[in-house]
Amino acid sequence: MSANPVRRVVEDVASEWRGRGKFPPGPKDFSFVRTHQIAHDPLPLLLGAYEEHGPIFSMRLLHTRVIFMLGPEANQFVTVGHPENFHWRESSFGDLIPLLGDGLLTVDDDYHDRARAIMMPAFHREQVTASTAAMAAESEQAISALVPGEVVDVYDWMRNLAMRIAMRALLGLDPDVAGKGAAAADHFERALGYYGIDYGLRLLRGPGSPWRKLVASRRVLDEIVFGEVARSRANPDPSRHDILSLLVGVRGEGGESFTDREIRDQVMTLMFAGHDTSTSTLTFMLHELARHPEVVNRLCVEQDRVLAGATPTIDQLEREMPYLDMVLDEVLRLYPPAWIGPRRAVREFEFGGYTVPRDAYVNYCSWASHRIPEVFPNPEAFIPERFTRERKAALRRGAYVPFGGGQRICIGKRFGQTEVKLVATMLLQRLRFDALPGRTMTVRQMPTLSPKGGLPMRVGPRA
Ligand code: HEM
Repeated sequence: MSANPVRRVVEDVASEWRGRGKFPPGPKDFSFVRTHQIAHDPLPLLLGAYEEHGPIFSMRLLHTRVIFMLGPEANQFVTVGHPENFHWRESSFGDLIPLLGDGLLTVDDDYHDRARAIMMPAFHREQVTASTAAMAAESEQAISALVPGEVVDVYDWMRNLAMRIAMRALLGLDPDVAGKGAAAADHFERALGYYGIDYGLRLLRGPGSPWRKLVASRRVLDEIVFGEVARSRANPDPSRHDILSLLVGVRGEGGESFTDREIRDQVMTLMFAGHDTSTSTLTFMLHELARHPEVVNRLCVEQDRVLAGATPTIDQLEREMPYLDMVLDEVLRLYPPAWIGPRRAVREFEFGGYTVPRDAYVNYCSWASHRIPEVFPNPEAFIPERFTRERKAALRRGAYVPFGGGQRICIGKRFGQTEVKLVATMLLQRLRFDALPGRTMTVRQMPTLSPKGGLPMRVGPRA
């Protein structure tokens, strides 16, 4: 797929022409209002279309028709049942490729499956366990900077913490060491900034444009990551547990290993996929907890019983704190940070009585799927009890997909869950977070869900 925006529009128009007559129902006319709404407040639009047309429908966005598939059967079809019908790379998120290169997110088919198999050991439980030391040390330091009585933007606070954890656990860099660590964190944030601005601005290419800034930051990041790969190859250190060092050493079943470029692309992808997601999840959790003091009380009772004030181990987080799991599940139902699963149809297929033409943009959407009333009654309400073990097991397949599913299910699921649960537990052991009177939280969704304008909250001592 072309990175040139003009060529892309031309290609999209041509592929829509080839698929004419085959799109599922939905509005075909260009509408500025609709395009704006999908970029700023998509839930009413998507849930309205679901009610009108059912689990598959299309709508024109900008210059092209886009297909959405919602609900348990649709999610299951895309992720588990027929992933061979789709590519990620040519999806509407293809403009991530200039930053991420060919990491797990942006590759497909055999290359994806082989790369994923080589990477899996880096995400096994023992490896995440090794990363919890960095998570706990960084959390301790970040929490000790919070002063009861003061207002803090918890989104910014967690973003900074998640970045420091990613630097250490993924790249093996110390974010406090002036030079590499600080520069990597800074340039990664700058590069990500490109994907948070409006689409129109992203098309600009001249000097000083957001694109040029992205390219400049990418150059710095490349230098740092390639430098770390070279260092790790020259001086392998078995005591290091960061993912970059592991990827230098891992071998596939046939003995194959990653090249320097492949490691760079995988590591950048992990940084991208793992940083905003954990940040938003913890932030939305604090937002809901401030509205539900009875949930905070139950969490505190659980953590006091299990931990008696100590820092949790991964065993305790995974096996002994079921209520914390339920709260996290409910947060991810209401606010799944990776809210959309972007795909491109690589062949024509049928679903729900409709044909989808080859080359169509197709998206599954956890955010809208998680708010379908027939699947989750009273969907707007925050009710952790929906996720008792029995109720979770009774959900229809594909109903709950905050981590996706099938062969592309989030590889960092355990890492992300551990990080969020650890930080939340350590915070609640000492502090409480209250909403600011009169301030409402709105959600923005590019590229991941996050609270618009951050989330300032008042910190207080634990009740
Ligand atoms: C609460 C935290 C997280 C959430 C909710 C989340 C969600 C997701 C979702 C929904 C997908 C599938 C997207 C699709 O189907 O198109 C995904 C894929 C992925 N995630 Fe996560 N993620 C989280 C944390 C992480 C972390 C911490 C990492 C890395 C350290 C990570 C790395 C990845 C990668 C590499 C993929 C692509 C997997 C593949 O295609 O094989 N994620 N994530």
